[in-house]
Amino acid sequence: MLSNQFVLSFFLLLCLPIVFFLVAPHVFPPPPRESLIPISDEIDDQILFRRASTGSSSHLSSGTPHPKLKIAFLFLTNSDLHFAPIWDRFFSGHPQSLYNVYVHADPFVNITRPANGSVFHNTFIASAKRTSRASPTLISATRRLFATALLDDPANAYFAVLSQHCIPLHSFRFVYRSLFESPSFDKSNPDPTSRGIRIWYRSFIELISDEPRLWKRYIARGRYAMLPEVPFEKFRVGSHFFVMTRRHALLTVKDRILWRKFKLPCYRSDECYPEEHYFPTLMNIKDPEGCTGYTLTRVNWTGTVKGHPYTYKPKDVSSHLIHHLRLSNHTSSYFFARKFMPTCLKPLLSIADSVIFRD
Ligand SMILES: *[C@@H]1O[C@H](CO)[C@@H](O)[C@H](O)[C@H]1NC(C)=O
Ligand SMILES: *[C@@H]1O[C@H](CO)[C@@H](O)[C@H](O)[C@H]1NC(C)=O
Ligand SMILES: *[C@@H]1O[C@H](CO)[C@@H](O)[C@H](O)[C@H]1NC(C)=O
Ligand SMILES: *[C@@H]1O[C@H](CO)[C@@H](O)[C@H](O)[C@H]1NC(C)=O
Repeated sequence: MLSNQFVLSFFLLLCLPIVFFLVAPHVFPPPPRESLIPISDEIDDQILFRRASTGSSSHLSSGTPHPKLKIAFLFLTNSDLHFAPIWDRFFSGHPQSLYNVYVHADPFVNITRPANGSVFHNTFIASAKRTSRASPTLISATRRLFATALLDDPANAYFAVLSQHCIPLHSFRFVYRSLFESPSFDKSNPDPTSRGIRIWYRSFIELISDEPRLWKRYIARGRYAMLPEVPFEKFRVGSHFFVMTRRHALLTVKDRILWRKFKLPCYRSDECYPEEHYFPTLMNIKDPEGCTGYTLTRVNWTGTVKGHPYTYKPKDVSSHLIHHLRLSNHTSSYFFARKFMPTCLKPLLSIADSVIFRD
């Protein structure tokens, strides 16, 4: 009797793990292996990225007599470009031989196209697709902008990623001269000048490793999901709003290995910010020396709510705020700032010429 009971309990104990294995997949779903990105979008992107990879050069050597190097301004938006008037004023009076503008506008949102006369008129790229938070769609959108700008103009030398919430903190002339001509702008520059001309172009992107939530972000797709290509030691975080060199933009468009990892969906949306990790991690693996490790876009993370930074209101806008936002520990100044409420347009325009573009 006793031994019978013993055998029975022993048998039950033995069964437990087996039952667990049978039931567990239903209770705890297996890691999501499939990307949620529509396959037709993936195919469109692959065609575009391959075309950009093979059809555009990363070469901008000083030996090649290029007419003028340009800055490509790449805007990501899922709403109206409410700061178009201030950007129009930023570009006003500067020849198109110094810059290009490209906009990735979510085609599933009803966005008013800026009228003829605005620099944003006819800048919406045809390859734009749906974007959403906590998904890898913002990575794809940025790569589409890179690919389009690479193919469109071989003179595009720097690629500045911005959003509809960004504003300029300086004049176009200041930005252009700082990037291409100033010997003192980038204080981290190891090879600052050659006869007063910058010869060493680097990407202005953060590659942060000492972030308390980094491990949670790393395992957001499963404990081993990023291995072996992305060990935790190589995983980085940084703002999605960066300025990249042409060489790095091309490298990003060519990447397939990291994309296969970062396109996987996360378990938890509150730890899922793929675009804040994909670009810094890729740069950290491929060319950390080619990056400054900081960004040129100022953002206020004090009192952050649900992953959103502080959003400036019309009453915050003043010449003091602009001067304060420019202050940087790494360069002579920040170039851009975010985020601003759309209603900030009027007060910003009123100080545009007297403060923002005076430098
Ligand atoms: C899009 O916006 C315009 C202007 O605000 C409006 O006239 C139009 O009906 C909207 N279309 C849709 C599909 O919402
Ligand atoms: C846009 O405006 C320019 C002059 O400002 C004019 O030459 C051009 O034809 C206009 N284009 C359209 C599509 O209206
Ligand atoms: C940053 O945001 C906080 C509110 O969260 C505000 O008190 C502070 O003044 C802001 N800092 C700057 C430099 O604007
Ligand atoms: C500059 O560094 C100081 C000291 O680390 C820090 O308190 C401050 O917030 C930094 N300023 C900016 C604009 O990052």
